Amino acid sequence: MNDLSKLSELREQALSDTSDESELRTPEPDTPLESYFLLNPSDMDNYLHYKAVNHEKLTDWDPTTVLKELYGKITQGSRTVTRLPSKSKKVTCMQGYLDKLPMNQTKVRTFKGWKRRFFQIARGKLYYYEDHKSETPLGNIDILGSEVVAGENNTVNISARMNGDKLVIRCGGESERDDWLTNLQRMSVIDTPIPGSLVKEGPTALLAREGSLKKKKNNKDGTVIIDLGATTIRAGLSSDDVPVVSFPAAFAIKKAEQQRTGRRFTESGLPDPHTCRCGFEAFYPEIRKDAKIIYPLKPSMKIDKYSIKVRYVPGFLEKVFRDLELDSKDRVVVISHSRHLSNRDKEILLDYLFGQMNVRAVYMQQQALLSLYSYSVTSGLIVDIGDHIDILPVIDGSVIEKGVMCLPYGGQQVTEYLGKLLTESGYRLFTDIESYVVRYVKEQVAQVSLDFQEDMASSPKAIEVDIEKFKLPDDRKMIKVGNIKYRCTEGLFNTGLYGKDDLPLHVMVERAIKACEIDHRRMFCKNVYLAGGTSLINGLSSRLEEEIRTAFPDTVQVKVTGGEDRLNAAYKGAIVMTGLSNFQELLINKEEWSNDQSEGLFKRWST
Ligand SMILES: Nc1ncnc2c1ncn2[C@@H]1O[C@H](COP(=O)(O)OP(=O)(O)OP(=O)(O)O)[C@@H](O)[C@H]1O
Ligand SMILES: [Mg+2]
Repeated sequence: MNDLSKLSELREQALSDTSDESELRTPEPDTPLESYFLLNPSDMDNYLHYKAVNHEKLTDWDPTTVLKELYGKITQGSRTVTRLPSKSKKVTCMQGYLDKLPMNQTKVRTFKGWKRRFFQIARGKLYYYEDHKSETPLGNIDILGSEVVAGENNTVNISARMNGDKLVIRCGGESERDDWLTNLQRMSVIDTPIPGSLVKEGPTALLAREGSLKKKKNNKDGTVIIDLGATTIRAGLSSDDVPVVSFPAAFAIKKAEQQRTGRRFTESGLPDPHTCRCGFEAFYPEIRKDAKIIYPLKPSMKIDKYSIKVRYVPGFLEKVFRDLELDSKDRVVVISHSRHLSNRDKEILLDYLFGQMNVRAVYMQQQALLSLYSYSVTSGLIVDIGDHIDILPVIDGSVIEKGVMCLPYGGQQVTEYLGKLLTESGYRLFTDIESYVVRYVKEQVAQVSLDFQEDMASSPKAIEVDIEKFKLPDDRKMIKVGNIKYRCTEGLFNTGLYGKDDLPLHVMVERAIKACEIDHRRMFCKNVYLAGGTSLINGLSSRLEEEIRTAFPDTVQVKVTGGEDRLNAAYKGAIVMTGLSNFQELLINKEEWSNDQSEGLFKRWST
C-alpha cells in the first residue's frame, strides 16, 4: 500500500472514530504523520495537496551536495567526520569534534577550561583546528611513541615521549572515547607488530622482506585498483594510499530514451550513454526525472540467488578510467568484487576488459578477503559490513567455506529503518532520493548501544544534525535525533526489529567460528577484523566484542579489531596484493585469455 492510500485509509478510520471535531488538537511540527491525521482528519485534503506539491519540488531537487558528502569521503574513522573532496590525496584517519584542555594542563583551572576543537589524526600526530573548515591546525601532539591512557569522565590522556607534551581530550560519550582511545593507542605503537597469531608467510611477511611498502609517488604507471562495492565504486592507482575516485554504484535508465531506441547496451557491450547514466550524474534532476535508478551491484535474490547485473559494470569501469584520466590500454587492473560474482560474470568482465579496454592483465578477488589483507594478516575472521554483510574465516589466505556467513543487507537496512523512525517522528523523508539525507543523518549520529534496554530507558540529549546545506524543498534546516540513534542500529543485533528472521550479526560471527575446526576457534576469537562502512558505526566494535565474549567460555580471549581506515579496507588490501613478489603469477593476461577463455584460469584466484 502506498503512503497516500495508507493515509486515506487512516483518515476514513479517524473520521468514523471521531465524533467531536472541536476536540482536535493542533499538531506539533514533529508529530508522527499517522497520528497527525488521526487527530486532524479534516486537514487531510490540505495535506495531500501539500504532499503533492512537495513531491513535485522533490523531483527538481538536486541531491549532489549530499551525495558529495557521502561519496566524497576518502578515509574516515569516526562518525563525527567531515569528508575530504573526492580528488584529495590527503591521508587522514579519525576526525571529529572533541573538548580539550590547554596543552600541558591536566586539570581544569578557573580561567583555563575545556575548549571545543576539531581533531584529526594524521601522519603520527593528533592535530586540532578551530573548526572543521580550518586549514591550519592550532596545534598538535605526537602520537607515535606516546603514552595514551583513558582518564575519568570520557577523557583520554596523551603524553608525548619525544618532547614531554601532555594533552587531555574529552569525548562525548564512552563509546566515542573507546573509539578514539583504540585508534590513538594503535597509532602510538612504534613498529606495530602484525596482529594475528597464525601469520607465517603471507602478504605482510613478503612485503616486509621485499620492502615494497615504499610506494612510488606521483606515478601514473601503477596498477589500477577498482573496488566494486554495492553502494560505492572506489578506484585509484596502487601508488595512491587511498582511493582517489569514489562515486555511487548507481545507474539511471532513461525510460523515454529506452522506449525510443529499444536498447540499453551498445554493440561493444557498454551501457548505452544515451539511455544509461552512472555515478553522480544518475541523480541530476534532469536525468532522474524520467529515469529509473538501479544499483547493479546490489545482490538480488529474486530469481538467481545473489545475482548481480554485471552487464552494467563496463560503464563503471569506463567511468573510473575517465575520472582517473588514464588510458586503459596495457594497464594492469585489480578488481575487488562481491563474493557473489559468478565465474560467468567474471568472463563477461574479462571479455570487456581485454576486448574493449585493451588492458594488459587482470587480477580479481573478493572484497572481504582483500579487506583482511589490509590488516597485513592472512589469518583471521573478517567481518565486512558494508551495504551487506560477509563474514569469512580465513587461514593462511584460504577461506574456510563451511564457516562463511552472508547477509544481503547491512548499511542500507540501517538507513531504511532510520528513515522509518524519522518519519514516525514527523520528518517526512521517505522517498528514495531523500534516503540519501537519511543516510547522511545516520552517518552523523547512529550508534550501537552497549546496553539497549538501559539506553532506551534513558533520554539522551537530542543531537541536532544540520541539513540546511542540502537545500531540501521544504527548507528543513535541521533534524533532531534522540534515542532513535540506537534504535536504528539495534536490528543488526536483533534482526526482528527490522522485521527479519535472519541471524543477528554476533550470532553469525559465533556460527562462523564454531563451524571451523576446534583448533582454530581460539585464534579466530582473538582475530576478528572489521571492514566496511557500516562497521564504522560508533560502538559497533565494542558491542560485537562483548556479544562474542558471552558466546564463548571465559578462558577464550576475544578481540575485535577495527582499523581506522576500514571503509577502504578492500582497496587497501588490493594494494597489499600488488606488492607481493608472486603478484605477476596471479594475473591473467590478455594473451592467455585470448588463447584459453575458460574457467580453468580462475583457479589462480581461488582461495
Ligand atoms: N561513518 C559511518 N557511520 C555509519 N555508517 C556508515 C559510515 N560510513 C559509511 N557508512 C555506511 O556504510 C555503507 C556502505 O559501506 P561500504 O562503502 O563499505 O559498502 P560497499 O563497499 O559499497 O558495499 P559492499 O561492500 O557491501 O558491496 C552505507 O550504508 C553507508 O551509509
Ligand atoms: Mg565493500
